[in-house]
Amino acid sequence: MAAEPVNVSEFQELARLALPKMYYDFYSGGAEDQHTLRENVEAFRRITFRPRILIDVSRVDLSTSILGYNISAPIIVAPTSLHQLAHPQGEVATAKAAATCNTIMVLSFSSSCTIEEVATSCNAVRFYQLYIYKRRDIAATLVQRAEKNGFKAIVLTADNPRLGRREADIKNKMISPQRKNLDGLFSTKVTSDGGSNLDSFVKETMDPSLSWKDIEWLRSITKLPILIKGVLTCEDAIKAVQVGLDGIIVSNHGARQLDYSPATISVLEEVVQAVEGRVPVLMDGGIRRGTDVFKALALGAQAVLVGRPVIYGLAAKGEYGVRRVLEMLKDEFELTMALSGCSSIKDITRRHVRTEHERLL
Ligand code: FNR
Repeated sequence: MAAEPVNVSEFQELARLALPKMYYDFYSGGAEDQHTLRENVEAFRRITFRPRILIDVSRVDLSTSILGYNISAPIIVAPTSLHQLAHPQGEVATAKAAATCNTIMVLSFSSSCTIEEVATSCNAVRFYQLYIYKRRDIAATLVQRAEKNGFKAIVLTADNPRLGRREADIKNKMISPQRKNLDGLFSTKVTSDGGSNLDSFVKETMDPSLSWKDIEWLRSITKLPILIKGVLTCEDAIKAVQVGLDGIIVSNHGARQLDYSPATISVLEEVVQAVEGRVPVLMDGGIRRGTDVFKALALGAQAVLVGRPVIYGLAAKGEYGVRRVLEMLKDEFELTMALSGCSSIKDITRRHVRTEHERLL
């Protein structure tokens, strides 16, 4: 039997062994040359610490709050699709693990389990991730269902007017199963072009004309706070604040959309500076260590979201695996805080890290 993993990355190999190749490739892959996929992780490695010594760290408090919801650590579950391809319990298992760890789960629009199944399974604070299809009534229905089922915020993913070119899925002829949330609303069965059906599906459904002016419409159909996911520039960050969005998630969709997009950690500070504290900024992409969480917070993120490691934990060991992934990141983050001389989240400052650029000066 394989040894118990000692870090989050070791779950990846367990997931590879547990999953059919088509699904493992779907979860792990990125777009085209996968340059950004590597960079999301590598860019963290180029940031080093400026740890402070002789500070009382006999108690380290990781807790924080996002949009007023208290969580045990600034590490939350990113929206990722189709968890039942990883484990029969799917998003229900993920949500239960998030609840045990007292953190937020962002449920993907493309989840395998329904909004209702996830809502009744546990009392985790849940946000709902939204894609806007050409048929706006679908978004409206799903937002209402999320709201009715106690989800606390909408996360609008805005970086996929088209699907990124994921070559492993094309090679494997990856077929995306029916999304249960859309049962009765919409058939997700589309004819394949002979490669992956994901691309034809997105072309048929997703609204590529979606623009900033549509935020007003989204605002008109929900009272929930709205975060926008997929911001990579100061220009879009400023725009997001101007149109009244409630939070920003710096993300390149786990490097699955536009290859050669920058590593998210490398543009976080640009966005944080443009936003000037007016709304919370979160980030995702490449978080694999507690040190990564610390670096993101030092560069101005309020919290990070974790995508693939959660899926790998789920594929390898179900709910327990997801819990272990979240606990490992929390434990490493706590240790990083202690060794950097920070006893609470507010103690983490820009001066605790040194970026590559600063090292060259
Ligand atoms: C995603 N991501 C994603 N994002 C989103 O808004 N809606 C979705 O349905 C999905 N689905 C999805 C599936 C898979 C398999 C992956 C790997 C990613 C992107 C996700 O929310 C997040 O931005 C990245 O996963 C973060 O990068 P890491 O943590 O995977 O490196």
